[in-house]
Amino acid sequence: MTKIECILRPGKLEEVKDALGKFGINGMTVTQVIGCGLQKGRTEVYRGAEYSINLLPKVKVEIVIRDQDVNQVVNLIAQAARTGEIGDGKIFVYPVADAIRIRTGEKGESAI
Ligand SMILES: Nc1ncnc2c1ncn2[C@@H]1O[C@H](COP(=O)(O)OP(=O)(O)OP(=O)(O)O)[C@@H](O)[C@H]1O
Ligand SMILES: [Mg+2]
Repeated sequence: MTKIECILRPGKLEEVKDALGKFGINGMTVTQVIGCGLQKGRTEVYRGAEYSINLLPKVKVEIVIRDQDVNQVVNLIAQAARTGEIGDGKIFVYPVADAIRIRTGEKGESAI
């Protein structure tokens, strides 16, 4: 199993959620977050020293999926989330050791 964590523009959440729903993703966790990337949260980079960091609102979407679905899911998220402008976000991919459905005690892929 693999966890996909993506940081998206809030305005792209619906599109990404719809794409994941169409693919057949069952579970997801969505969190409102703030963050910055290369531009340190600035929409314009000025000449001269600028050391302060500005944190912009983003949404974090976490899903745990089967390893065989990773490439397709990463591609569909990237496609749905992209505008081509700075700040489109990022996708992080992590290995998952196990998952347990608390109600039934199912484990592994049966639990996701
Ligand atoms: N290295 C990182 N570690 C953790 N979170 C990150 C990292 N880079 C980006 N993020 C998160 O992703 C959000 C969007 O990042 P962003 O798309 O601006 O990345 P970028 O590297 O600056 O790319 P771009 O040049 O396209 O803007 C950030 O606000 C932050 O929440
Ligand atoms: Mg950026």
